[in-house]
Amino acid sequence: MPSALESPVGGEEDILHYEEIEDGAVSPMDLSELLKEGTKESHDRAENTQFVKDFLKGRIKKELFKLATVALYFTYSALEEEMDRNKDNPVFAPLYFPVELHRREALAKDLKYFYGEDWKEKIQCSEATQQYVDRIHHVGQHEPELLVAHAYTRYMGDLSGGQVLKKVAQRALKLPSTEEGIQFYTFDNISNAQKFKQLYRARMNALDLDKNTKERIVEEANKAFRFNMQVFDELDKIGRSLAEEAQDGGFPVHDGKGDIRKCPYYADKVGMASTGCPFHAAVGLARQPLVQLVLAACMAMAAGAAAWYIL
Ligand code: HEM
Repeated sequence: MPSALESPVGGEEDILHYEEIEDGAVSPMDLSELLKEGTKESHDRAENTQFVKDFLKGRIKKELFKLATVALYFTYSALEEEMDRNKDNPVFAPLYFPVELHRREALAKDLKYFYGEDWKEKIQCSEATQQYVDRIHHVGQHEPELLVAHAYTRYMGDLSGGQVLKKVAQRALKLPSTEEGIQFYTFDNISNAQKFKQLYRARMNALDLDKNTKERIVEEANKAFRFNMQVFDELDKIGRSLAEEAQDGGFPVHDGKGDIRKCPYYADKVGMASTGCPFHAAVGLARQPLVQLVLAACMAMAAGAAAWYIL
């Protein structure tokens, strides 16, 4: 049986025994070191985006968390599609860990939990996410030697800071202890994240790459961080508009372009009224602020009339 540090041969499904991996000596020219050093500034910037800072403080609305999950779903769908495409390509094959790492199915479960059975009809890829997705597809199809940069930026982050976010989200959003809604953060097939990251680093370092390609990979990883930050900034803007809406109780401002029924926020708000059931429609209608005002006025008048009659 090959050791966990060797890559599987011919798509062999090996059970990984990475828990026994020792801390190996690393050299500054190893890809893992170049990436860690070369993306340090990007990491600091990403951690300090308003969206991430608010998230860490537990200041995240459920609506926004749901939209973040949508963005992740589109991102990982693209990433995992390209990783599947390149699973036998020597520039990526040693980093192909579908059982341990892939998140698409976990994200699909989270979206089903948040949006219901017809979640696929309710979600839409945002502008910033689409740019990220386009880049991943470009890399996977035209520069596959750079795919490692995208996998590194996401999965190593998910196995590190992502575990902090999981706990914050569970507490802040009062999600069930059964981990519904946060499957994305749960790596069922990784028993020791620290050791797994060591294995991943060792596999990155064993790739046969020249100096120039390593530099291009670091550059691409910084690009991946930027794409993530653009998604965070977009979410932050949506979060602000959600806060304003919460004050006036109205619908979000929609630019009128595209199919409004595909806006997940809209779908969620009108969900009650759009089931086709008259009772749900009535309840949905009764939740609208103007209707509530009219109902309150009617009840006040009825109370006044009753008092006049009794007296
Ligand atoms: C919530 C804010 C974040 C916190 C608290 C955080 C925390 C951490 C920590 C403690 C590590 C070191 C883990 C280790 O050495 O084993 C780490 C590594 C990493 N994080 Fe983050 N992180 C955050 C956000 C992000 C974001 C937004 C990304 C990218 C989208 C990211 C990507 C990475 C990557 C790629 C590594 C691996 C570094 C390496 O060892 O080469 N992190 N993070």
